[in-house]
Amino acid sequence: MAATPIIIDCDPGQDDAVMLLMALAVPDQLDILGITAVAGNVPLALTQRNTRLMCELAGRMDARVFAGCSRPMVRDLITAEAVHGRTGIDGYDIHDPAVPLEPQHAVDFIVDTLMAADDNSITLVPTGPLTNIGLAIVKEPLIVPRIKEIVLMGGAMREGGNTSPSAEFNILVDPHAAHVVFTCGRPITAMSLDVTHLALTTKERLEAVGAIDNKVAQAVHSMLEFYDRHDIEKYGTDGGPLHDPCTIAYLLKPELFQGKHVHVAVDIHSERTMGETCVDYWRVTGEAPNTNWIHSIDADGFYALLNDCLRALG
Ligand code: RIB
Ligand code: CA
Repeated sequence: MAATPIIIDCDPGQDDAVMLLMALAVPDQLDILGITAVAGNVPLALTQRNTRLMCELAGRMDARVFAGCSRPMVRDLITAEAVHGRTGIDGYDIHDPAVPLEPQHAVDFIVDTLMAADDNSITLVPTGPLTNIGLAIVKEPLIVPRIKEIVLMGGAMREGGNTSPSAEFNILVDPHAAHVVFTCGRPITAMSLDVTHLALTTKERLEAVGAIDNKVAQAVHSMLEFYDRHDIEKYGTDGGPLHDPCTIAYLLKPELFQGKHVHVAVDIHSERTMGETCVDYWRVTGEAPNTNWIHSIDADGFYALLNDCLRALG
């Protein structure tokens, strides 16, 4: 079967970093046309550098990395150094990446790549604030029919918000871009906190990563040891949620997940609930479903898949 053409958009962040390593490990399954970085967990200068570092770590010097937007469409940027550390990927040995930054702006790369593609052909995989994706749609609406599916990490319903009482970080950072994406009319699969909080990096699972004897797995183990501490303390759980890799796992093994097709809207009006994903789970509004809202995961299967990808990078 031909590899699935995808564009990844991310804000590394340790969980974005693990997502990238999973995606870069399987070139026979995922044809990564480009990786775009956006401001989010840390400022853009760091998210683009961290993206390039992960491509280098994976040995994928062929990867094309583009820098995108340095702030949300309307609101001021909020970042998450308290979670990810000052570098964005604390736990990793930071250095100047060997993978260069492409000169083209990420939004222009996304527009040009989609405009040159057939309808219904390219999958977008955003795991940070949706600024680059939203602006690409605003800049050139003709890209929309070319999008096969958007598999994103963001939102929350049953789990509640992780950055405000009702909003998840990626959506809250740029709710206006999220509104553009959720109203674009193309199929969306949302890996919200409702499912990512079921994918906890428990001590046992972290030890299994650490038992893989290659430099990539050892780097992931070190990054996750740092990254987990914040959510373990916040939620009192055995391990932190591994958010962003759920998107790649869904593309590789959708059978690990269960969801429900529902209508999702993003609140862009009320300051108190700004960025809330308003999920019509029981279809009471009559609004047509626009999202496959993932609510369940085979967590053991997910971590087994992660470990397979890490071994493959050895
Ligand atoms: O709320 C979790 C999301 O926000 C993840 O994508 C994490 O990397 C941050 O971007
Ligand atoms: Ca992210």
